[in-house]
Amino acid sequence: MAKTKIKTIAILTGGGDCPGLNAVIRAVSKTAIYNYDIDVLGVEDGYLGLIENRLRPLRQLDVSGILTTGGTILGTSNIADPFHFPVKTNGKTILTDVSHKVISNLKKHNVDALICIGGDGTMASAAKLAKLGIPIMGVPKTIDNDLVGTDMTFGFDTAVTTATEAIDKVHTTASSHHRVMIIEVMGRYAGWIALHAGVASGSDIILIPEIPFKISAITDFILERSALGKRFSIITVAEGAKEKGGSLTVQQTIKDSPDPIRLGGIAARLSAVIQQKTSLETRPVVLGHIQRGGTPTPFDRVLATNYGYTAIKLLMENNVKNHLVVMQGGKFGSIPLSRVAGKIKPVPKDHPLVQAAKAVATCFGV
Ligand code: F6P
Repeated sequence: MAKTKIKTIAILTGGGDCPGLNAVIRAVSKTAIYNYDIDVLGVEDGYLGLIENRLRPLRQLDVSGILTTGGTILGTSNIADPFHFPVKTNGKTILTDVSHKVISNLKKHNVDALICIGGDGTMASAAKLAKLGIPIMGVPKTIDNDLVGTDMTFGFDTAVTTATEAIDKVHTTASSHHRVMIIEVMGRYAGWIALHAGVASGSDIILIPEIPFKISAITDFILERSALGKRFSIITVAEGAKEKGGSLTVQQTIKDSPDPIRLGGIAARLSAVIQQKTSLETRPVVLGHIQRGGTPTPFDRVLATNYGYTAIKLLMENNVKNHLVVMQGGKFGSIPLSRVAGKIKPVPKDHPLVQAAKAVATCFGV
């Protein structure tokens, strides 16, 4: 296959941050610089930097020593969608299509291809930019692991590790005080973090959005444990879990965000009900953004490196563009961005890990 004439690429990190972003920035930049003699530009703060023309060169030294660091050296934004960007006109904020600014800024810097590292929101905008003629490669990021088409997003393993360590710590204090402890983890509308951290920590009850729970099933299970002499219970709950027929627990709505709902508070809500129905002391613990921080696990560093390398290799050697790099069955490849945009990957109710958890007597609140 003929090699492409790509001389300059730009790279951005969009949406919520997660461990491993810097590892991808490093892998993309080093692969591009060392193997293809490409100039690399870093876009500051995701799509916001593309709209505001904030791009800077990324040279070898700029991407050296960042493999193990959390966050993103480029910064990110989860309110900057070029197609719905808040613009103030006559004192009113109107969501406006400013994609022409993105295109003209990329032209100013002679950018031949754009590498977008992000989740579903970032990929939805990337797919629209691709339709306007910008060659794009996407890299699947999110602690939530909810991107379709790939076995695993980078950042997920670190979040699960952090959550598991935290639940292990809660476990010992729950045992000492004979309490019911409810640990709320992130994940938005998917229960991957709760399922994996719940199983890894040996949680007694795991509640995920995909399996709406019944309060009576949870309280019966806890009281049965008490009757057996088990004087504490650990519940891992996903922030997006909800009661059968009930609604999501929303913590706040972010003005001008293309994805304005922020979930949170289900642990506190459940805690009050469980304490009242069982007369057992019950406490909520919210892990929050701790799950997004810190150094990536070795698994995520390797995954991020593979994703970054594959993105550039496919772009340069195979002329692949407007695709998302994916891992399927342990092998790296890519799928069209259009297949990913606007979709999320929930936990199948009969997922093998759900079955394994049930087999070791974990309650899912049903
Ligand atoms: O998508 C990653 C994530 O951390 C979700 O798990 C969580 O619901 C959301 O982002 C929180 O977003 P923010 O940092 O804007 O509060």
